[in-house]
Amino acid sequence: MDPLDQAAACIREGKVVAFPTETVYGLGANALDPMAAARIFELKERPAFDPLIVHIADLSQLQLLTPSKDPRLTRLAEAFWPGPLTVVVPKTERVPDLVTSGLPTVGVRMPDHPMAQELIRRSGCPIAAPSANKFGRISPTAAQHVTRHMPEVDFVLDGGETRVGIESTIIALRPDGYVILRPGAITREDLNRILPESASPVAAGSPEAPGMLASHYSPAKPFHLFTPTLLQRLDPSKCGFISYRGNAPQGFARVLTLAPDGDLKAYAAGIFGAMHQLEASGVECLVAEPVPEQGIGIAIMDRLRKAAHEHGLPG
Ligand code: TXA
Ligand code: MG
Repeated sequence: MDPLDQAAACIREGKVVAFPTETVYGLGANALDPMAAARIFELKERPAFDPLIVHIADLSQLQLLTPSKDPRLTRLAEAFWPGPLTVVVPKTERVPDLVTSGLPTVGVRMPDHPMAQELIRRSGCPIAAPSANKFGRISPTAAQHVTRHMPEVDFVLDGGETRVGIESTIIALRPDGYVILRPGAITREDLNRILPESASPVAAGSPEAPGMLASHYSPAKPFHLFTPTLLQRLDPSKCGFISYRGNAPQGFARVLTLAPDGDLKAYAAGIFGAMHQLEASGVECLVAEPVPEQGIGIAIMDRLRKAAHEHGLPG
């Protein structure tokens, strides 16, 4: 049987399927079935206060999820869907409260990956999906990352490595514009071409930004952002180094270079894979080189800071 048919049959039976999107692998279930969504939280060991993103394949599915007729949603959809943008909009009663963690809003996106789109179509329902990792761990960018960390998932669709490599940009619409809740490959500059920005930003920890915890995406080993003084405090011969363009300090046990030609998109596409690779290797700790905070570099630094938070040495 075709894996996509098998996966769609699982979704229709209320099971959970890991599937590729252009950003990271998702852990999907029928978004309109609270029992199926509950299984996502259980498998992921995710706290109930952290809402799920709902994935659609077709604009006609939007009306199931939101009563919104906001013309800005149409403009954003035209500009960025399918693609790595999640828009938070008011929800309909059809969307279970569990999916949105009791919020009156739902995050929706149309992924730009043929397998994700085909899975949603064949399942016949929108699919709720967080990233397919245990809560707080590194997002998966290849099917092996999912099978290694979550062998209990009902079905894994293998679509190879993901193209973008970091999770979607999330925005919330406000009467006066939009606010970015999570940076991603679609940047502020991209969004500002379509919509004026909202004057007041969103604070982490506010009800509008649930799940935006300081520590997230952590490898199971200590993870540090590189600064020259770090070398006084750890032994590089026991550590792996994730390099931006290949200028690694001397002495590291392993060096993975992600973007020899300086393309930040390549760093984004490779960062979680490099973290998975070093986590599974013999090194004791991981060090990543910071990147310039421009364009997608803002989203990369957001992920690196969150990964470093739990294990980061002070200073
Ligand atoms: O690229 C992605 O977005 C991936 C792929 C699988 O699509 N998904 C993903 O989901 O990153 P997840 O669960 O790791 O992140 C979902 C985050 C939540 O932690 C929350 O911060 C935000 O999306 N979110 C979801 N619904 C929301 C809502 N109604 N209001 C505010 N934030 C919301
Ligand atoms: Mg996640």
